[in-house]
Amino acid sequence: MKVIKTVAEMQSWSKKIKNQGKTICLVPTMGYLHRGHLSLIEMGKKLLYDKVVVSIFVNPAQFGENEDLDSYPSDLEKDFKLAEKLTTDAIFLPLKEEIYNKNFQTYVELASLPDHLCGLSRPVHFKGVATIVTKLFNIVCPDAAIFGQKDYQQLQVIRQMTKDMNFNIKILGAPIVREEDGLAMSSRNTYLTPEQRESALCLSESIEKAKTIIGQGETDAGIILKKINAHIKSFAEAKIDYTALCDPDTLDNVKEIKKKTLLALAVQIGKTRLIDNAVIDPEQ
Ligand code: PAJ
Repeated sequence: MKVIKTVAEMQSWSKKIKNQGKTICLVPTMGYLHRGHLSLIEMGKKLLYDKVVVSIFVNPAQFGENEDLDSYPSDLEKDFKLAEKLTTDAIFLPLKEEIYNKNFQTYVELASLPDHLCGLSRPVHFKGVATIVTKLFNIVCPDAAIFGQKDYQQLQVIRQMTKDMNFNIKILGAPIVREEDGLAMSSRNTYLTPEQRESALCLSESIEKAKTIIGQGETDAGIILKKINAHIKSFAEAKIDYTALCDPDTLDNVKEIKKKTLLALAVQIGKTRLIDNAVIDPEQ
């Protein structure tokens, strides 16, 4: 497994691979790899891309001022071992200065998708994500890139940006990987105390609850959300950022569940902000 630290070396490695007529699949991450990340690498391998590149970069541009940039967990030695076990071909591990030089001034910003869900409480987040992913696309030059549906809005933002900017890159979405008790895997789960870890189950439990309520024929989004909100509030230290039922493409809120609908949740458990989601089909 090759570890590449500079933009120039990454670009020339990719060029060499392309010149051999081979394909590259990129899995962008911020490191501290867990089974969710590993499932994306496995997907790249399973889809038979010739080379799978994992980028590890904690992107300062996507963190707000009072967010966890400085405390974001890291264990590169473990990340390398895990990636190598899955026969990852290359790790792109740039320094901050390599990505954002002193005179950096160009950002990628979407007009309306960020005005929903996480974008409302994290105003700079998706501008930071769209910018770093654009840069990674230009540095790694992949044929495909894989993102998790755990960050549903992020995946939508990247799909839209890829289309708008004419990147000739296939964007693939991978299912959410969960702990045995239902909690969606996240690098941030490590922040939780044992008591908070119990409370974190309010997210996946709410998704199951919504599926049951919708399965019983309830179509009124207001009623469903009221029940979910009451359930979340019954957990210690759980503070709702948002609970939303929305159109899976536009992310606009819906009043009535008539077709496939995205249930998206963001809950603060103590100091840790957790998200989860599911697309629910009332026909099933
Ligand atoms: P990070 O949070 O490290 O996640 C990297 C990728 O792993 C994302 O595509 C995310 O959706 C996916 N992922 C995380 N948890 C998952 C889970 N439980 N199941 C399936 N996939 C999961 O998302 C980012 O980093 C950054 O915003 C990034 C795209 C790298 C840009 O900086």
